[in-house]
Amino acid sequence: MVTLGARGLRVGYDRGTVLDDLTVDLTGGTRWVVLGANGSGKTTLLSVLSGALRPTAGQVLRNGQPLSYRPRALAEHRRVVQMVLQDPDDQLFSADVAADISFGPLNLGLSPDDALARVDEACALLTLDHLRDRPVHQLSGGERKRVAIAGAVAMRPQVLLLDEPTAGLDPEGIDDMLGVLDRLEEQGTTVVMATHDVDLALAWSTRALVVGGGTARVGDTTEILSDTSVISAARLRRPWPLELTARLIDAGLLPADGQAPRTMADVVALLDDR
Ligand SMILES: Nc1ncnc2c1ncn2[C@@H]1O[C@H](COP(=O)(O)OP(=O)(O)OP(=O)(O)O)[C@@H](O)[C@H]1O
Ligand SMILES: [Mg+2]
Repeated sequence: MVTLGARGLRVGYDRGTVLDDLTVDLTGGTRWVVLGANGSGKTTLLSVLSGALRPTAGQVLRNGQPLSYRPRALAEHRRVVQMVLQDPDDQLFSADVAADISFGPLNLGLSPDDALARVDEACALLTLDHLRDRPVHQLSGGERKRVAIAGAVAMRPQVLLLDEPTAGLDPEGIDDMLGVLDRLEEQGTTVVMATHDVDLALAWSTRALVVGGGTARVGDTTEILSDTSVISAARLRRPWPLELTARLIDAGLLPADGQAPRTMADVVALLDDR
């Protein structure tokens, strides 16, 4: 299993520093969320971890080893760690869906037949078969998001960095996306997802990284999202299952020492137990 991390990472743009002396270790789980307010540095962090953005100081670590920015080492890193951008239009450029998905595999040096097999595999996983010959610019936003993810999945990465993969999706689209992530996890892929959706973060992930003020907090998702100081510093809100449980505890309707619920089913089970 591939693990990512960073040591003493400093990243900034011309207007100032976004990540400052950041040291994190993304171990202990295969479902990660990166949380934080707008402009806190989620996209910046994913870009640095993907190797696309080079830090001003510090190192990205893969399996504890510093990432080298020599072309061959970087190509190897990108084969293992794939990032899907926040806006699919920044990623998709081929004439049709199948051509876009095959771009990465062909670039890896796979034969046209092998690249086609990768396209078939990715289209099946993302339920894109019916769209594979369509021009990308005719697709809906949600469909384009799926194509962008298919392009990354076709590289068979071990770590998939997804920047806001559920933003703009309808409820069924979000469920479908989570189903895709389940299947990727079964295949051994670690997924790191930047999101604003704290309810989704609580229900889906086991580990969370919260960025803000140049630094980061890492931990168990339920613990992180139960910590009101972390939540308010990051301009997030408490996920509804934790908020509701806190109010039911205050009202004396639930014991204070129970297990924290992550989903609707967990909340119902807690109430059933009463
Ligand atoms: N290419 C760039 N040039 C200059 N500044 C940038 C660039 N990209 C990002 N920034 C700045 O860096 C900061 C962090 O941006 P980033 O996109 O990483 O935030 P984010 O947490 O992903 O935000 P959002 O939730 O809005 O997606 C912001 O203040 C942003 O304006
Ligand atoms: Mg972003």
